[in-house]
Amino acid sequence: MQVVGGFLGRMVAEQLDVDYVPLEEISFPDGEFKFRIQTEKIDRDVVLVLRKKMGEDINKYLMKLYFAAKTLHNADADTKLVMPYFAYGRQDAVFKTGEPLSSEYVAHLFDPLVSKFLTVTAHTHRQDSILPMFKHAKATNISGIPALAKALPKIENAFVLGPDTESIVWAKEMAKLIGADDYGNFDKVRDVDTGEIKVTMKDFDFEGKNLVLVDDMVSTGGTIERGVALASEHGTKDLHISFVHPVLSGNALERMFRLNPKTLISANTMESPVSVADVTPLIVKHL
Ligand code: R5P
Repeated sequence: MQVVGGFLGRMVAEQLDVDYVPLEEISFPDGEFKFRIQTEKIDRDVVLVLRKKMGEDINKYLMKLYFAAKTLHNADADTKLVMPYFAYGRQDAVFKTGEPLSSEYVAHLFDPLVSKFLTVTAHTHRQDSILPMFKHAKATNISGIPALAKALPKIENAFVLGPDTESIVWAKEMAKLIGADDYGNFDKVRDVDTGEIKVTMKDFDFEGKNLVLVDDMVSTGGTIERGVALASEHGTKDLHISFVHPVLSGNALERMFRLNPKTLISANTMESPVSVADVTPLIVKHL
């Protein structure tokens, strides 16, 4: 068995104690790229593990993963694909006529090429799981919350807060893992036409609590920022921010640091300066 990929692939190969094969990449000035799976012989069993590099365009990442999976498929490899961040996972429903069902289209790109598909905390909460989108490959959506819980310091008197409606599942899981009695979520509604966001708070008692924010991702940082602003009006103490995917567009990281958190961590599903929670043991367990 070989593990093909980048830095995360090397970590997985080490844990499985099998050969690691890097992808050598060349970029052209017009944005196209070429890569080579650096081996003279592709094994029958291959694990392909590739995460998005810092600042890399998500579409380039997706294309690279597709080309690699297709190359392995054409070489008759039985490929298990690990896509740590499920690109286009947000669009897991058609909200308005004429929109694409992007997450399903992405699943259909890889489904015929691989025997197993693993991802971490896919943003597909409007469907039960990612399983129905795959017809051929055995698909698993691994929770990244245990890796975050392990990376957090011991926090007494914690209130675990999900900053929007869907994040209640992650808040509940995190509360259980870190032994917090209190957890809950805010509600966030986005107007599909104007994009305007409204966040509302339930009747929580935050007084004297250490706030542990948990979400699947931070993109612009707006969701976490709004949640923290609202909660801290009600007497919270220390702030700990944790999220699985460090999408971190624009100045999101700066916005997070401006909130003055005691802890700011994400999982290593993408490269970033805060990617300290290691998901590779969870990935290896599911391979
Ligand atoms: C939304 O449903 C997600 O769970 C995240 O809360 C959201 O994508 C974060 O985006 P941003 O950081 O841009 O507010």
